[in-house]
Amino acid sequence: MTMRDPNAPEPTAGLGPGRGKRAFIKAYGCQMNVYDAERMGDLLAREGYAAADDAAGADLVILNTCHIRERASQKMYSELGRLRGLKGERAAAGIETRIVVAGCIAQAEGAEVLRRAPGVDLVIGPGSLHRLPALLAGADSRAGGHVETDFPVEDKFTALPAPTPEATRRRGVSAFVTVQEGCDKFCAFCVVPYTRGAEYSRPVAAILAEVIRLTEAGVREVTLIGQNVNAYHGEGPGGGPWSLPRLIAHLAELPNLARIRYTTSHPRDMDEALIKAHGGVPKLMPFLHLPVQSGSDRVLRAMNRGHGADDYRRIVDQVRAARPDIALSSDFIVGFPGESDTDFEDTMRLARDVAFASNFAFKYSPRPGTPAAGREGQVDEAVKSERLGALQTLLEETRQAFNQATLGRDIDVLFEKSARYPGQLSGKSPYLQQVQAQAPLGFIGEVRAVTVMGQERNSLNGRLAGATMTGGAQAA
Ligand code: 5AD
Ligand code: SF4
Repeated sequence: MTMRDPNAPEPTAGLGPGRGKRAFIKAYGCQMNVYDAERMGDLLAREGYAAADDAAGADLVILNTCHIRERASQKMYSELGRLRGLKGERAAAGIETRIVVAGCIAQAEGAEVLRRAPGVDLVIGPGSLHRLPALLAGADSRAGGHVETDFPVEDKFTALPAPTPEATRRRGVSAFVTVQEGCDKFCAFCVVPYTRGAEYSRPVAAILAEVIRLTEAGVREVTLIGQNVNAYHGEGPGGGPWSLPRLIAHLAELPNLARIRYTTSHPRDMDEALIKAHGGVPKLMPFLHLPVQSGSDRVLRAMNRGHGADDYRRIVDQVRAARPDIALSSDFIVGFPGESDTDFEDTMRLARDVAFASNFAFKYSPRPGTPAAGREGQVDEAVKSERLGALQTLLEETRQAFNQATLGRDIDVLFEKSARYPGQLSGKSPYLQQVQAQAPLGFIGEVRAVTVMGQERNSLNGRLAGATMTGGAQAA
């Protein structure tokens, strides 16, 4: 699941300022890792930890890691090398530092992490994160580090405490809420079914309680997240399972919630009811991240995706019929084992035809333990790079064209925070574009119409609709 640069680490908002022990938590990879890192922050806040600004000032450093591509693992190991040095320096000054590796590398590599990165005290998989305080309490006595990578029987979400009101407030205007975790699809390239385990959907009541708490703290937008979010089938209040569109329609009734998004979806679970929701639920934003991975039927079959390129095109047509202005986004993998020039041309054709508004494209990276890693026909690195370059150029053109099409239009922006220049706020359009405009601070958390005036590489510049050129910020 991706809507952010998956290799960019993200510091965590769960912890607040304070005195005493300090913790620094860094999340790599997908939004679920960011969410899990926040929940670890909540747990530690209850143990009396405050947030450290950086690893150098922390008594406890947690890396919430990503294993999806090799580059993500390499980054973690080099970070652990730096942390080991830091730990040594602090130890020389008589200060103890504990290092925890959490997330998907912890799950996939377990004790291997301790071997490759001496200095690590605890390796904890995503299914066990609610046990963090207990494990930390025990880690003192376990020389050489401890590994905890079970998928426990108890539901980790019910075992996690609710965040403090202060931590909830710090999450700002837009928040992620995990509704589903794990995956049973077993795409041939992907580690998720092994690192995150079998597909699990949280009950509706638990999600509703979390979203209500968030809205009470000022959150106006939630993104429902899951590795396979549109396979959601959590227990409804009456006992039977609820689908994702039913959950969305229910959440849309919350008066203070302005916007709902969800990610990441699988084409196979894009059913009629969910497609219809895009036309019928105004709070559901017109944005759909729907990874296709490849435009070649042969490669899609080898990937075990369970659909063909035309199935994908059909879904796109249906979604666009339900919501004509919807922005589509996708993940692509180039250089999957056996991918020929013709297969790659099919991917280019699909990307050109669909005209995605945003996208992520990756070179195939063999992940240990996945079916495709040992296959014949591994593609040359140079060929992968060439294909990635060509695809990214095309995807960038369609992304810019989508942004350009909003120029001169009035679009609703949910203002999230102050922007770079004084008096300027930044927020998101319904299509997940970043938009800056001169606006009073009080507009943070509000949806306002903005006329799009200009386009930068990764954002749009606008003016509050109805405001004059001299900057008078009249409310729309
Ligand atoms: N190699 C390259 N990209 C991968 N992804 C998942 N596994 C791999 C891999 N082994 C990409 C897919 C997925 C996104 C989150 O990461 O495109 O949708
Ligand atoms: Fe991985 Fe495929 Fe599951 Fe997505 S659907 S998490 S790519 S196995």
